[in-house]
Amino acid sequence: MQKIKIFDTTLRDGEQTAGVNLNFSEKLQIAKQLERLNVDIIEAGFPAASKGDFASVREIANTIRNCSVTGLARCLQKDMDTAWEALKDGAEPRIHIFLATSPIHRQYKLNMTKEQVIENSVAAVKYAAARFPHVQWSAEDASRTELDFLAEIIEEVIKAGATVVNLPDTVGYGTPGEYGQMFKYVREHVPSIDKISLSTHCHDDLGMAVANSLAAVENGATQVEGAINGIGERAGNTALEEVAVALHIRKDYYNASTRMNLQEISRTSSIVSKLTGMPVPANKAVIGKNAFAHESGIHQDGVLKEKTTYEIITPELVGVSSNSLVLGKHSGRHAFKNRLVELGLVTEDENVDHLFQVFKDLADRKKEMTDDDLVSIVLEDKISKDEETFYQLVNVHIQSGENQEHTASVTLSGRNNEEIQKSGTGAGSIEALYNTLEQCVEENVSLLDYRIQSVGGGRDALAQVFVKMSCSGMETSGRGLAQDVLEASAKAYLNAINRVIYLKEAAETEIV
Ligand code: KIV
Ligand code: ZN
Repeated sequence: MQKIKIFDTTLRDGEQTAGVNLNFSEKLQIAKQLERLNVDIIEAGFPAASKGDFASVREIANTIRNCSVTGLARCLQKDMDTAWEALKDGAEPRIHIFLATSPIHRQYKLNMTKEQVIENSVAAVKYAAARFPHVQWSAEDASRTELDFLAEIIEEVIKAGATVVNLPDTVGYGTPGEYGQMFKYVREHVPSIDKISLSTHCHDDLGMAVANSLAAVENGATQVEGAINGIGERAGNTALEEVAVALHIRKDYYNASTRMNLQEISRTSSIVSKLTGMPVPANKAVIGKNAFAHESGIHQDGVLKEKTTYEIITPELVGVSSNSLVLGKHSGRHAFKNRLVELGLVTEDENVDHLFQVFKDLADRKKEMTDDDLVSIVLEDKISKDEETFYQLVNVHIQSGENQEHTASVTLSGRNNEEIQKSGTGAGSIEALYNTLEQCVEENVSLLDYRIQSVGGGRDALAQVFVKMSCSGMETSGRGLAQDVLEASAKAYLNAINRVIYLKEAAETEIV
């Protein structure tokens, strides 16, 4: 069976999703979960892009031991030097350099001839190979590149020291037939091709990213790149969980396997969705809420008689447990901690006293506590532990009546622990709340997006709010969790404000 390496770019291409802006601690949490998922390679970011990117790539490289961590770089020495500084202490340092090869990019973006593209790529690969044990070179827009030129440049970069060659369908233009043919051609026309790993990287503009990636595997790709939940630039990247499950379920056809721990898929998907604020559609393959729901009577009847009539993937395979009710208000500290450890949310030696108190307070009001609730509680707690809190919510109260304006009364604790109390009005409760918070924080804020989701089901479900806003010329996002939707909305708003203040102060003192 052919071994396929999984290259996860949730933290680089995935983070390029419009509106997604992960901070240092969120990136680290996702990286740790990707390690549990057992991907082979984690692309942690683009170290030369900003000081913040550099810091998070370095921290991830220094923390993760069971996956190779990589960072993106242009074919520029300063990018590669910065990448080396960020990655050199990683378990298996690896660089990912790229240059566009297609005629459109050569002519309009790079203004380079074919010879110059080869020259630049070869020089960059040689420079990188003098430092990194693993050098991946990507032919950006490969799927729109002349095949003979592609074969020529690949041979040259392999001779220069590339250990992985990646052939992206950068604009999601390819069809499975064409994209697969490109891999077949390269396998047949590049003399040194067997010396390296051949990689696929697809975008979903025409909804064919997963199909194209699998076509590449059928035609000789040995590494698949993509992002969890398929997030990424424009319409997104290949959804890695779909590829891994397709290879597993149809091993009879693909004769290929990955080392991914499939039982971690559901949790990874949920963590990525919560931290990025990108909800997973209910009908999404493998991880959607309805992926295992049988609605029609004929299907239900079939499944009751024999599951395999209509169910090709079991929920257990991807870590969706049918018995998700795990703890309640009578559960003790020991059971609570055990479950957090089992879920990989804390380590054995971590002190969970504070989390246990949050759990107990909530369990008093909420009858059922699911795994999803526990994940949300821990992620929420990390906001207050890992992030600078300038403003904190003390109290929120809304008054409304028929045909009346809504009035919000808010109490916050401010930057110097002073109490701030204000009231304001609005046509709806959220408008009243956000108008009042704007007065409290004395910033000029425009709300760009507001999303609310329930965690689990039931009337007493927790509310998870995600906001995107612009404040002092900066775009920012925040999240908040509470049983009450207004409290969750206020927390999300303040989380976004706290992040902007932190970034502004950090920029002044140059710590980001
Ligand atoms: O889509 C693309 O071409 C990329 C490259 C940087 C690999 O993301
Ligand atoms: Zn891409």
